[in-house]
Amino acid sequence: MSFPVKTDADFAPLKNDLILRAARGEETERAPAWIMRQAGRYLPEYMELSKSHTFFERCQNPSLSAELTLQPVRRYSGLLDAAIIFCDILVVPQAMGLVVEMIPGPFLPEPMNSPLDLARLPKTVDVDEKLGYVFKAITLAREQLKGEVPLVGFCGAPFTLFSYMIEGGGTKTFQKSKEWLYKYPKESTELLDRIAVVCADLLVGQVKAGAQIVQVFDSWVGELTPYHFITFALPPLLKISSLYRSKLTALGLIPPPIILFAKGANSSLEILSKTNAFDVLALDWCITPEEAKAVTGGRVALQGNADPLCLFGGKDAIEAEVRRVCAGFIGESKGPKGWISNLGHGLTPAALPVDVKFYLECVKKYSARRA
Ligand code: CP3
Repeated sequence: MSFPVKTDADFAPLKNDLILRAARGEETERAPAWIMRQAGRYLPEYMELSKSHTFFERCQNPSLSAELTLQPVRRYSGLLDAAIIFCDILVVPQAMGLVVEMIPGPFLPEPMNSPLDLARLPKTVDVDEKLGYVFKAITLAREQLKGEVPLVGFCGAPFTLFSYMIEGGGTKTFQKSKEWLYKYPKESTELLDRIAVVCADLLVGQVKAGAQIVQVFDSWVGELTPYHFITFALPPLLKISSLYRSKLTALGLIPPPIILFAKGANSSLEILSKTNAFDVLALDWCITPEEAKAVTGGRVALQGNADPLCLFGGKDAIEAEVRRVCAGFIGESKGPKGWISNLGHGLTPAALPVDVKFYLECVKKYSARRA
């Protein structure tokens, strides 16, 4: 099975390219806004569709995935500047042959208990065959967006996926993952590298299908020491970026911007910004915009980083948090440059859609370029 390469000419002209310009480090008239997990359980229209379809059905059925992708864009029309394809990072372990259930959190009944389990994984993974549904969903969502906003593709990062494959689900201690890193460094490197290849192919496939920008989610990499970050997490991240760029270039495509969200790895931001591997570094809420700008020195665009929990503080708290973040990124300038606004992590199920709307209105107001 092989999918055709789609180009801009196959879709409606893009009406709002704010996020693409910001990702390239350019000035924008206001900060583009999107939110991690903008489609999800806090939306009544999402809960409605969840009644009749299981989580992975929603990910694997291209028309359901496209519909869920568009839900927040419709609800916050004029306030959201990107759509993110509805899927999950755990489709990569599935494509590598592991069973993943969502009950309601991730559960992998047969995790990788020891390096012997590497033999269970196929040597190569045909992403068109295993993850073709993601590519179909991307094309469908892009068509349905009719050029309103760009479509974000994504994948999980190797260390985060490695941890799920070894722990068998979420964990507080990461004990089993760390045991692998300490006891089996060679086999850990091999597993991380094999995950990276599948992730790169997943991103390439999404761009071929119509994704206009992509993000790599490294949600748990902050659990590593800075030394382990450099030794184990960084090499496969660099591999994703270089395979992504070289494979797309070989197809005659210009690689769209690539964002890395390395949550909790703020001590490695400077190093990341010097690798040239990522166009945008997405920030969690644990660093000030001023400090993030200083350590990354203008080498990359930045994304973030309002506290997601400000949404539970009432309108005044939301407004104050947005003002603080806007002031931090924009500083003395007339307007934003190379900044994509977002929360420092995903929306949680208890967030109220009215508060999310108010948050987005504040971003629009306080990030606007001054005359
Ligand atoms: O709107 C979007 O952002 C797109 C969809 C999306 C989902 N998951 C849908 C989802 C994206 C980008 C993800 C990424 C993802 N998945 C990450 C990285 C981002 C992050 O939050 O750190 C991670 C770590 C996962 C793994 C995962 N999937 C977890 C830990 C959970 C359970 C979360 C919980 O609170 O129970 C999921 C399930 C999941 N993925 C849901 C959604 C909307 C909720 C489950 C449901 O709707 O039934």
